[in-house]
Amino acid sequence: MVEMRFDNKVAVITGAGGGLGRCHALLLASRGAKIVINDLGGAVDGSGEGSVSPAQKVVDEIKKAGGDAVADGNSVSTVEGGAGIIKTAMDEYGKIDILINNAGILRDKSFAKLTPDMLNIVLDVHLHGTINTCKAVWDIMKKQQYGRIINTTSAAGLFGNFGQTNYAAAKMGIVGVSKVLGIEGAKNNIMVNVLAPGAKTRMTEELLGPMADKMSPEQVSPIVAYLAHEDCSVTGEIFSAGAGRTAKIFVGAAQGYFNETVTIEDIRDNFGKICDETGYAIPKNAMEEIGMVMPMMK
Ligand code: NAI
Repeated sequence: MVEMRFDNKVAVITGAGGGLGRCHALLLASRGAKIVINDLGGAVDGSGEGSVSPAQKVVDEIKKAGGDAVADGNSVSTVEGGAGIIKTAMDEYGKIDILINNAGILRDKSFAKLTPDMLNIVLDVHLHGTINTCKAVWDIMKKQQYGRIINTTSAAGLFGNFGQTNYAAAKMGIVGVSKVLGIEGAKNNIMVNVLAPGAKTRMTEELLGPMADKMSPEQVSPIVAYLAHEDCSVTGEIFSAGAGRTAKIFVGAAQGYFNETVTIEDIRDNFGKICDETGYAIPKNAMEEIGMVMPMMK
């Protein structure tokens, strides 16, 4: 069996001072990658002074095991912070092959009680954070005609979850960004995919309840590493990973009901057909979805 390795590859992992990010980092480092361990420090809700020490701890762990890593304490949530993280990698290692956007916080509240500051900080860390680092690395990856980017979404965004409008908005935004970057990056060999993880971390140990002990971050990192590998040829896809199950998640379109002179009553009378999932398609881009009507036209 040929081992999948990352020798001479440089990876940047945001929010890697603990939880899932740390685990992704340990796996890639154990297979030869040089890693920038970014983490702002701070609490699950993003509060606190911030400290580079969680990142430094993971760097020390990697070095102790014979690997190579450097710590970075920038916040992903500003344009300058995103640029600073990428600069750390360029200054230290001179290139970046892999970017894993993983940093995250929670500010859960039912929509009725959601305040603008709870919304904005969550959008800033997750959605803008992902865009900030992608933007900073994009030209570098285009020039070198190579890149692997893995962005982190959540089942809460993909499927909905009580009390998480802010988080869900950010996490579905990340899916949209990744789908477009997957399309735009393809000609430059930049593959952009999305992870929807499930694992016991400080963020989820209370939310997951009794399932938590069966859900380790170590069960999630292999799909991330696979998507980060040069052999990975998929792009714009979403993968769920948790408790040992790894599965593609997709956005599909039903074949639908066709009538060029459609009326409200037609919609009422054909609602079953509109919703019938039999023979659904998974369009690769917006034009493909629009084009689904073509065979129905005379
Ligand atoms: P975690 O709280 O252990 O890790 C998140 C890390 O991001 C923390 O170390 C934190 O200091 C760092 N961080 C927060 N704001 C930052 C900023 N502005 N700049 C840089 N770093 C920052 O939580 P976990 O579970 O490891 O989460 C990792 C990612 O996975 C997050 O994006 C989260 O939303 C996502 N996720 C996790 C799930 C789970 O089951 N653990 C489920 C679905 C999504």
